[in-house]
Amino acid sequence: MGYREVYESWKSDPEGFWMKAAEAIDWVKPPSRALFDENAPFYEWFKDAEVNTCWNALDRHVEAGNGDRVAIIYDSPVTGKKAKFTYAQMRDRVALLAGALQARGVARGDRVVIYMPMVPEAVVAMLACARIGAIHSVVFGGFAANELATRIDDARPKAVIAASCGIEPGRVIAYKPLLDGAIEMAEHKPDFCVILQREMERAPLIEGRDFEWDAFQQGAAPAECVTLRGDDPVYILYTSGTTGQPKGVVRPNAGHLVALHWSMKAIYGIDPGDVFWAASDVGWVVGHSYICYAPLIQGSTSILFEGKPVGTPDAGTFWRVISEYGVKALFTAPTAFRAIKRIDPDGEFIAKYDLSCLQTLFLAGERTDPDTLHWAEDKLGVPVIDHWWQTETGWAIAANPVGIELLPIKEGSPGVPMPGYDVRVLDDDGHELGAGELGAIVVKLPLPPGTLPTLWQADERYRKSYLSTFPGYYETGDAGYKDDDGYLYIMARTDDVINVAGHRLSTGAMEEVLASHPDVAECAVIGVKDALKGQLPMGFLCLNAGAGRSSDEVVAECIQLVRERIGPVAAFKLAVVVERLPKTRSGKILRGTMAKIADGEEWKMPATIDDPAILDEITEALKGLGYPK
Ligand code: COA
Ligand code: AMP
Repeated sequence: MGYREVYESWKSDPEGFWMKAAEAIDWVKPPSRALFDENAPFYEWFKDAEVNTCWNALDRHVEAGNGDRVAIIYDSPVTGKKAKFTYAQMRDRVALLAGALQARGVARGDRVVIYMPMVPEAVVAMLACARIGAIHSVVFGGFAANELATRIDDARPKAVIAASCGIEPGRVIAYKPLLDGAIEMAEHKPDFCVILQREMERAPLIEGRDFEWDAFQQGAAPAECVTLRGDDPVYILYTSGTTGQPKGVVRPNAGHLVALHWSMKAIYGIDPGDVFWAASDVGWVVGHSYICYAPLIQGSTSILFEGKPVGTPDAGTFWRVISEYGVKALFTAPTAFRAIKRIDPDGEFIAKYDLSCLQTLFLAGERTDPDTLHWAEDKLGVPVIDHWWQTETGWAIAANPVGIELLPIKEGSPGVPMPGYDVRVLDDDGHELGAGELGAIVVKLPLPPGTLPTLWQADERYRKSYLSTFPGYYETGDAGYKDDDGYLYIMARTDDVINVAGHRLSTGAMEEVLASHPDVAECAVIGVKDALKGQLPMGFLCLNAGAGRSSDEVVAECIQLVRERIGPVAAFKLAVVVERLPKTRSGKILRGTMAKIADGEEWKMPATIDDPAILDEITEALKGLGYPK
């Protein structure tokens, strides 16, 4: 069957399609049906099944005689370490940590926050939670203490599992002071913390609250997999919304298992035993789905790479990893390729390695620009597949499903909708638009298995954020269009989310931080185009009268403040003081127009603008920052 037939087979019988896909999962008790829509618009999948995700990711492969197969390859150019862990070894490590957590009272439904860099113990911790039904919430290492505190207060974890440090090129990031600061700031206090002591930075432990990783597990009885309900969450992952309060995306066990398993072969063309590499971070959804869960559920080998595409040690590091381990498919963000291309435009590093094992390159997280697409196609000689998804969906909404059929690649498009997703483009009034017409991209409800049923303890926010603008549809927050062949084109966000180096950030959250500076009366943050990172945040600050401070001082303090409160990952380094902000007569800041001016794009004077002269002042301020580039 080709893509069209597969998509049609889903459309004509969604229930049958997903029940068939569910046969690949080892159930304790199989689901009686796929979709549970009694609580629409809250939809659930395989709710009455009984299952354990860790069993499906590890134990069942060992039981099937594949215990010696490599599950995880750890390659860390920043520490010079390499290691391989078989399925049997992973199962044993995970069972031991799970047993130790259980012995300390962590049980089904309890939350555990994981704050770790790209080390194998991060995956062990995630699976240990899944084994005993604890709900993990991984927080990306590049977030500051304040962001960690917000997540601790929302998830209210019984325990935190952290590492003493992470390693960024040229510097060691001590995680423990950030964790201590976060716990101090948070209203909710976890019962205990488990700390992985890394040799580059050993953290002082707080007596009675903190346990060292090995000592914590010593003498623990390995835990068996706990039987869970299909709708029990396996994890919560926080993502940026319009405000500083992140959204807790909930991922139930059963739908996640079925959808991820289906995607490994159909979308990525990966079979059990193949080597798959998602060069991302366990703190992001790509890391959850395609470093940890999907490759293991499917019985393939996953690479855990602690390094960067460039500088660790050079722009050939990706090619070394691919050739050394026989990687069949690589998945990363376009920004990683732009970073490599910038240093090695002629692909001299690529020529040094035998990459004959590589069959496909997958890119996501941001739009793949045509330059990057063609450079990668040219230099690697394999299909380069852009695909589009979100933290909320957990797997691709649109892709080119190479495991079913490699469709023609169209530049600028992440491909066609995957089974389960009925994607439409609507105008502001909710009318469906024709081919080539730009509008809001939505998915007709229900969303497929593996996607979010709601936000963590925030049903109303879920409804308001995603379901209220276009009743009957899930609003993706992306705008774009379809072409005559049904290919999608994702052009922009319709909200305050920007995309910096493949990382999703909220300009609203940055504005909240800037506004807290005592000299800032008002501010706006926009995303401006950047050749490497896709977008960069840029701040405009109006100061209180009589603040008596120089603009440079305030700008420097504001940049530092965002770094401290949100984290270095915000990459907030551009800010300027202005007299006034351009607004509509009703007082809405014209961020879109400011962004167009900064990007050097054509723009129209908004009819509702209060004072057009302010845009001249903004244009001048932008020139001072060297924009448009
Ligand atoms: N812990 C602590 N700090 C971190 C961090 C982590 N886990 N990850 C990033 N940071 C810091 C960086 O060191 C940098 O700090 P600096 O301001 O002192 O330089 C800052 O956060 C911004 O990071 P980033 O935007 O990633 O920029 P970079 O210059 O370090 O690297 C790329 C640029 C393109 C090489 C890098 O972003 C990359 O590899 N991107 C791939 C993206 C990706 O995998 N996305 C996931 C979706 S698929
Ligand atoms: P995240 O939740 O961090 O995965 O970010 C999701 C958002 O990133 C999407 O809503 C898009 O705005 C953007 N995005 C992800 N993948 C793509 C893609 N292939 N093309 C265009 N935008 C993308």
